Amino acid sequence: MAAAIVDQDDIGAVRALEPHYYTDPRIFLSEREAVFFRTWQYAGHMSQLGRPGDFFTFAIADQNLFCVRDRQGQVRCFYNVCAHRGHALVAGDGNCSVLVCPYHAWSYDLDGALRKAPNQKKAKAFDPRGVRLTEVRVEVFCGFIFVNLDAKAAPMDEWFPDVEAELRAFVPFIDRLHPVQWVRVEENCNWKISVENYSECYHCSLNHPTFARGVIDPQSYDVRPQGHCLRHTTRSADLSRLSYPIDDSLPHGTEYSSWYLWPTFSFQVYPGGLLNTYLWRPTDTERTIVYRGWYTVDGAESEVVARMADQDRRTTVEEDIRLVESVQRGMHSRGYKPGPLILDPAFGLNSEHSIAALNAWLMEALNS
Ligand code: FES
Ligand SMILES: [Fe+2]
Repeated sequence: MAAAIVDQDDIGAVRALEPHYYTDPRIFLSEREAVFFRTWQYAGHMSQLGRPGDFFTFAIADQNLFCVRDRQGQVRCFYNVCAHRGHALVAGDGNCSVLVCPYHAWSYDLDGALRKAPNQKKAKAFDPRGVRLTEVRVEVFCGFIFVNLDAKAAPMDEWFPDVEAELRAFVPFIDRLHPVQWVRVEENCNWKISVENYSECYHCSLNHPTFARGVIDPQSYDVRPQGHCLRHTTRSADLSRLSYPIDDSLPHGTEYSSWYLWPTFSFQVYPGGLLNTYLWRPTDTERTIVYRGWYTVDGAESEVVARMADQDRRTTVEEDIRLVESVQRGMHSRGYKPGPLILDPAFGLNSEHSIAALNAWLMEALNS
């Protein structure tokens, strides 16, 4: 896979992206169509849709959507827009047996079919059977709900080969997890700067002492493309130095792994099967909201998870905000020209193959 991303002859010649990719609103507009509306995007978690009629709203760029569990138990996703004259159908989250638009009270079944429009019988040419909400592709991936606005998109398994099986091997209880913390982090940078920073650990030893000493073993760190996933692997820090107690009886209990799913979501498993997630929601060219999710079995209280979420917020997240915001300012410098990436043929901690992969995926999307 890496050979397809970087030809051996190009090693040493591959450079970071030109700065306008991070600052030009026209690029951001192109990315909306070419990237965000054509890839698998995180919507929410199955625990938010426990009963038929449960729904929640969310947005991908300027597109408002909602997920709902229908009467048969199926998870569906629709654009949050009425098929009459365009009012939003639902707000926030909740439960309803029928979807009723607050504008003129058109009502829809949970499968998106129109039930009734007031006074419809008087409109002779009106055929309610032809009216439906616009539905969006959904995949439930280990309890996490993803949607794709592109009806022709390949399934997640093709985009991210082997990821589901690997994730289940690391977190055998993943179907029982519920989110317990959802930490919102504002970053004044383009979404790609934040994702690139997440995707390489070349900066870790210098900038993340707690993570590099108390969670992972930097010597065994590696990041490799796997389809459109970037798979991070390493052993845990020396157990005596680990910053929290772990269950090392799990099959991969003394390993760290992360599966970044192009373009805006990542599963991360700390040693001991401690699942946490990253979600990037780009709001405009130079602003990104990052959500850090933390989970426990059945949503049980966990002192370890609470402590790790807090430690992460105070250390790695805070350290990264400073880095990515400085890089964003650097993109406006008249003195900056994209520098060469460090591509170690053996991959490892100090290689930037992952940046080359991200740039290749971006170009593939923008040029297709
Ligand atoms: S816009 Fe929804 S009923 Fe008129
Ligand atoms: Fe970092």
